[in-house]
Amino acid sequence: MTRDAGVSQAVILVGGQGTRMRPLTDTIPKPMLSLMGLPFVERQVDHLQRAGVSRIVFSCGYRPREIEEYFGDGASRGLEMGYVVDPEPLGTAGAIANAEELLDDADVFVLNGDILTDLHLAALVAHHRGLGAEATIALTPVDDPSAFGLVRTDADGRVTEFVEKPGADELIPGEPYRINAGTYVLTPAARAAIPRGEQVSIERDTFPLLAERGGVGALASDCYWRDIGTPASYLDAHLDVLAGAVGFIPSPGEAWVSPEATVDGSAAIGPGACVGPGVVIGADARVASCVIGAGSSIGVGAAVEGSVLGRDVIVGDGARVSDLVVVGDGATIAPGAVVAGPESVGTGATVPAA
Ligand code: GTP
Repeated sequence: MTRDAGVSQAVILVGGQGTRMRPLTDTIPKPMLSLMGLPFVERQVDHLQRAGVSRIVFSCGYRPREIEEYFGDGASRGLEMGYVVDPEPLGTAGAIANAEELLDDADVFVLNGDILTDLHLAALVAHHRGLGAEATIALTPVDDPSAFGLVRTDADGRVTEFVEKPGADELIPGEPYRINAGTYVLTPAARAAIPRGEQVSIERDTFPLLAERGGVGALASDCYWRDIGTPASYLDAHLDVLAGAVGFIPSPGEAWVSPEATVDGSAAIGPGACVGPGVVIGADARVASCVIGAGSSIGVGAAVEGSVLGRDVIVGDGARVSDLVVVGDGATIAPGAVVAGPESVGTGATVPAA
């Protein structure tokens, strides 16, 4: 049981279009993509609940129905769950402001809905309150910050500078590269600084504004952290769970096969294979380092490696799929076809045999 962090409400941002995750996100919002049999965002809900959160507001936009239908009012989990929907994309800060009517006048956790982390929420709150900050950002170390928002702090852990996607000339030799980990504590004063009804980014607009008045804290940690925003990182998140790297999710071993999958005795389930419910794997098929979505079927003698298959995908007999192919829901790889990535196969598309 994690220590009670002393913040009882949270907003999870789940309204983005997940464009980098297409075609998987054509048919499902990114936070509802499955991670070994459960919607990804459910792992975040568990993490928050273990830290003492009792009310969770989902700030939705793209495909809100799937999320609300799955979680409902939260009563069955002993939680209060509410939903707001962007009238048009409001950005990450606008989407927090939109949730205000469902929040108490108290601190709130905010989580990006696409981060897998076992971050210590109680430590984040302790840092936030110790500084008397308006907002506090969790930071995570990276080797190469060029694709992220680099955050610089002073010795007390107060933000001094944000550098979005820094170029080589903006990096200081020897400095630790720490980026925004998509997990925050916000006071009511920080939320009041977000203009209403406009598209506002918390990373680019709100935090820099608050930092100018000295109000933003930041706490670095070496906890497990991964953004599942791309198919490659989504696959890596599965491999991390199998490797036992994600503190709060026990590793099921070197592969995971849903108890509701049917696997022929002669099929080879190699390391890193994650096989969803309702999947059928035929004789002599080989699967390794891959995610196979619910209801898919892998034909006799077919091979799937290093790839991500959505739901209800058909891989025909003897077909081969490898090297980061991303296959949308309901697509068909014809018998004998060979698809080597990086490539994506659209929702419902058919790849013919060569
Ligand atoms: P990409 O299109 O691939 O960049 O993905 P994304 O739309 O999810 O954007 P990004 O990864 O930057 O978003 C971080 C988190 O904020 C995700 O959990 C999104 O669901 C959420 N988010 C982003 N933009 C909005 C928005 O305009 N409204 C709401 N409600 N949530 C958002």
